[in-house]
Amino acid sequence: MNVGGPHGWGAPLYAAVLDATAVGAGTRVLDLGCGAGLFARAAADRGARVTGVDLDPDAVALAAATVPEGTFTVRHAQDPPAGRFDVVAAVQLLMHVADPVAVLHRAGRAGGVVAATAWGRERECDVRVLADAFAPWLGPRRPARGSPVSEPARLRAMAERAGLSVERQAEVVVPFDYADEDELLVPLLASVPARAVARRVDPAILRATVLERLEPYRSEHGGYRLRNLFRVLVARSR
Ligand SMILES: C[S@@+](CC[C@H](N)C(=O)[O-])C[C@H]1O[C@@H](n2cnc3c(N)ncnc32)[C@H](O)[C@@H]1O
Repeated sequence: MNVGGPHGWGAPLYAAVLDATAVGAGTRVLDLGCGAGLFARAAADRGARVTGVDLDPDAVALAAATVPEGTFTVRHAQDPPAGRFDVVAAVQLLMHVADPVAVLHRAGRAGGVVAATAWGRERECDVRVLADAFAPWLGPRRPARGSPVSEPARLRAMAERAGLSVERQAEVVVPFDYADEDELLVPLLASVPARAVARRVDPAILRATVLERLEPYRSEHGGYRLRNLFRVLVARSR
């Protein structure tokens, strides 16, 4: 199931990447899989000169609007623009590509420092409760196999196969904060499994049951907080 995080959830992860790679004024950053340009925006706000690539033309257009001072093109992460960069970032990209080793190898050739982020293992991320929320009707979910890049030893091995020397893998806990029930429930109840359940269950019962499962994550102000672990791998080409 794919329920996006709340607005702005990525800020602590982006800050961790920028801190770990010492991005500051004038740093040349290549952002692989730049999406809508939110990481690029955070880098540019520190004075970096940002170049971004993404396969999705709509994402590239959004990134160009988000970071007008940056340069964004529709390209595969394995085929970045020519040039040398101080930092090459692959933020939440590797789990989406067919060949993460090839992407890391190419990243190492493009720049000095490579930073790649990935979700932690399923058990390390509270968002799994959103996928489990409909278990009373759909039965217990088999735990997702997860992406290999979520296993720290496998991510390190991939980086080493890509010819990188791993400096560290930092862990960052990123809270997904939802201000109230609706901010969490509206997208959750619009998901495919929820709509399947809603065809046969009273909506009020569905809502109450899901909220009961989410009760342990309720914050004192009436919102919800899900804590998720991400890893930031920092490496250099050998
Ligand atoms: C989860 S999003 C992350 C976006 C952004 N890095 C962020 O953290 O907000 C993954 C992005 O990678 C892009 N993507 C997937 N495969 C790609 C590839 N082979 N080359 C370039 N971009 C790719 C997708 O289009 C999407 O925008």
